[in-house]
Amino acid sequence: MLFDSVLNVGGVLARNGIALAPMAGVADVPFRQLAWELGAGYLVSEMVSSLDHLWDTKKNRLRRVSLKGVYPNVIQIAGSDPIELSETAKKVVDEGADIVDINFGCPAKKVCKKFVGSALLDDIPRIGRIVEAVVGSVSVPVTIKTRIGSTPSDLMGIEASYIAQEAGAQLVVMHSRSRACRFKGPVDHEKTAKLKSRLKIPFFVNGDISSRHSASLALQESGADGVMVGRGAVGQPWIFRELLGEEELSLPEKWRIVRRHLSLSYDFYGKAAGLKMMKKHIKAYLIKLGCEDLSARAMKLEDPDVMRRLLSVDQMQQEFRTEQFRKSD
Ligand SMILES: Cc1cc2nc3c(=O)[nH]c(=O)nc-3n(C[C@H](O)[C@H](O)[C@H](O)COP(=O)(O)O)c2cc1C
Repeated sequence: MLFDSVLNVGGVLARNGIALAPMAGVADVPFRQLAWELGAGYLVSEMVSSLDHLWDTKKNRLRRVSLKGVYPNVIQIAGSDPIELSETAKKVVDEGADIVDINFGCPAKKVCKKFVGSALLDDIPRIGRIVEAVVGSVSVPVTIKTRIGSTPSDLMGIEASYIAQEAGAQLVVMHSRSRACRFKGPVDHEKTAKLKSRLKIPFFVNGDISSRHSASLALQESGADGVMVGRGAVGQPWIFRELLGEEELSLPEKWRIVRRHLSLSYDFYGKAAGLKMMKKHIKAYLIKLGCEDLSARAMKLEDPDVMRRLLSVDQMQQEFRTEQFRKSD
């Protein structure tokens, strides 16, 4: 498929055009590491606030940790003030970012209330000023992530992408929905295709990609250079292998990945916090793997070691037999 090939983002080469989407509280360092190991070529950090008083909070610090052995490290920043954002960009580059991405897509009320994320689609000239200021302040490529428009009937995100390109952005990620649609309703990748007429820089299509089939369709409809997968990777990060055309993993292999994810999370956060962060992933894995009962049990656990035992290979074999017996009843 087209996106198997190297993607050039302003001179920074990503090994392929298959991306894990930034997802605050989900696509953290452990999950990004796992996605890389499973073949994703482009990983974007959870958004990092540009507000001074939030810079040194534990949450903000952990979000911008660079991954070892991964290239490029893309750190996403969010804010509304061009100067503040360019200062933040400098800091993340000093810490090791290979690319700085700016969030113009988040529809969350608490974000938009501060005129951050997709709220900025109401002031496109400001988007231009922000990109220009950030591009001028760092020596690495600057990219943007946005949505088609503010509402289904405008194309402000498409316009914003052209303005960002003029201001020096090197890549656009387009979520094929409007701000008003948030995360619901059908995606419109054909509208994303409107980018093609005037965009000279590469772009990713994003929204509801959860299989090789939906990825091909999104690519075909939008004419994008790559695909970005968010929720479609939760509970099945092996989707990146699938998108690369690799053989489907066996159940024990998938189980090893779940265990690997747990270990990465315990190592990164410490066991107690690691378990807390993992619960949403464990639930998603177990449901995807058809183990609803085990998921219900897992959600009640508070002890990291007990969770590790619950996800042991022996336990898994036992549980799977039970689950599969139930299924064939
Ligand atoms: C829990 C969650 C957190 C998100 N956090 C961010 C974020 O920090 N920055 C961002 O640009 N988009 C964020 N998004 C949007 C995703 O990157 C993506 O655009 C959206 O989920 C649509 O893609 P999908 O259908 O593949 O999930 C978030 C989405 C979810 C579900």
